[in-house]
Amino acid sequence: MKTSSYSGFFKLSVEERRNEIAEFSGLTEEEKAIIASADTLDMDKADHMIENVIGRFALPMGVAINFIINGKDVVIPMVTEEPSVVAACSNAAKMARPSGGFTVSSSGNVMIAQIQVLNVNTPFAAKSMILEKKEEIIRICNEKDPVLVNFGGGVKDVEVRVIDTIAGPMVIAHLLVDTLDAMGANAVNTMAEAVAPYIEEITGGSVELRILSNLADHRLVRARATWKKEDIGGEEVVDKMLNAYAFAKADPYRAATHNKGIMNGIIPVVIATGNDTRAIESGAHSYASRDGRYTSLTTWEKDANGDLVGSIEMPMAVGLVGGATKIHPAAQTAVKILGVKTAAELGQIIAAAGLANNMAAMKALATEGIQRGHMSLHARNLANTVGAKGEVLEAIVKQMVSEKKVRLEYAKELFDKHTEK
Ligand code: MEV
Repeated sequence: MKTSSYSGFFKLSVEERRNEIAEFSGLTEEEKAIIASADTLDMDKADHMIENVIGRFALPMGVAINFIINGKDVVIPMVTEEPSVVAACSNAAKMARPSGGFTVSSSGNVMIAQIQVLNVNTPFAAKSMILEKKEEIIRICNEKDPVLVNFGGGVKDVEVRVIDTIAGPMVIAHLLVDTLDAMGANAVNTMAEAVAPYIEEITGGSVELRILSNLADHRLVRARATWKKEDIGGEEVVDKMLNAYAFAKADPYRAATHNKGIMNGIIPVVIATGNDTRAIESGAHSYASRDGRYTSLTTWEKDANGDLVGSIEMPMAVGLVGGATKIHPAAQTAVKILGVKTAAELGQIIAAAGLANNMAAMKALATEGIQRGHMSLHARNLANTVGAKGEVLEAIVKQMVSEKKVRLEYAKELFDKHTEK
C-alpha cells in the first residue's frame, strides 16, 4: 500500500522529492516536467487569464506529507511564500497518524445566489409571492444551464429573507444552486440575472444586485482528528493547547491570528489547485462571525483518555472544473497528486490541512513558542538570499541559529567569509 509517510523527506533533493511524489501519485514524465518548470503557464494562456499581462510570477510548490484522510494516505501540494507552513502541516499530520489520521465530510456543493428586490411596499407579502412561484423560478434558472441539470445539479430551492437596512427593508431572494464539481460563480450569477425580470414581475419591485454569496454555508466541509497525548508531549501540553483555544474562542484579536494559522494550511492548497483564494478567505471569516462575534473556525476538546480532539467546519467553494484549475497545467498536476475526483473531496482535504496547521501552531505557541522553529527556516531563507548553497548554506544557518543572530547582514558577512577561503 502506498504511504504518505516518509522519513527524512526534507533531506532529499528537490528532484528526489519530486520522483517520490511522482511515484506516489502516478505522475507521468510530462507532469513531472510541468511542476519542475517555473514556465509551466505559457504566456499566451497567461495573457488570456487576466488583463494587461506583462509576465508571470512563480512561487514554490511543496508537499505536506504524512496525511491519512478517511483511511487513505494523501499527499497535499501547497503553494506558499511562507516558510514553516509545509513542515508544520506535515508534522501535525504525522502526530495524528497513530490514531488513524483525519476524518472528513461535507454538506454538498450548494452555492447561494442573492437577488436584491427593492421598492416593494409590502416586503413580507413579496416574500410570499416569490415563494409561491418557486417552481417557475427554478425552471427559469435551470433552463440556463442544461448541462449542470443533466448531471444532477441546478437550482434546488429558493429562500427569501426580509432584512432591515439603513435604506429601509429589503427583500432578498436566495437561489440554492447545486454546482456539483464547479466552484459555480458563473453558473449562479447567470441564473440570478436570468430570473431577475420574473422576480420583478411577481413582486412589482425592482431588482438591483444579482450575485453569489461567498458565505457559502450550504457548502461546508468538516475535518476532525485525535492527537494522542503521548504523541504530543503529554496531557500538560493538551491542557496548554486547550487554553490557547479558549483564548481564540473568546477574543477576536486572538481569533484573527488563530484563523490566519488555519488559512496557512488552506490557502496554499487553494492556490496549488487554481482556485479562488479570496472566495475562500471571505467565506471563512464571515462564517467565523456567524453568531455575531468573530471567533475560532476550529474547536478543540479533550476526550476521556486525555487526548486532544480537534475539528473544523467552514465554507469551501472550490471546484475542479473550469477556471484556472482547468487552464493551469500545474493546477491539474496538483489535483492528480491529491488523487481527488470531486470538488467535495478536494474541499475536505483542504479542511484537514487547515486543521493540521492550526494544531501545529497552537502546539508551538503553547510550548516552546513560534520563533524557535521559525528562526532556522528564516535563517535558511536569508542564507539562500545571499547566494549560499549546499554545505555553505547549512554552515551559515547553523551559526546564525546557534548565535541567535538571524539577520541578513550577518548572513552576508558569513557568506563572504566562507567564499573568501
Ligand atoms: C503565522 O503565520 C501563524 C500563527 O501566528 C498562527 C497562530 O498564531 O495561531 C503562528
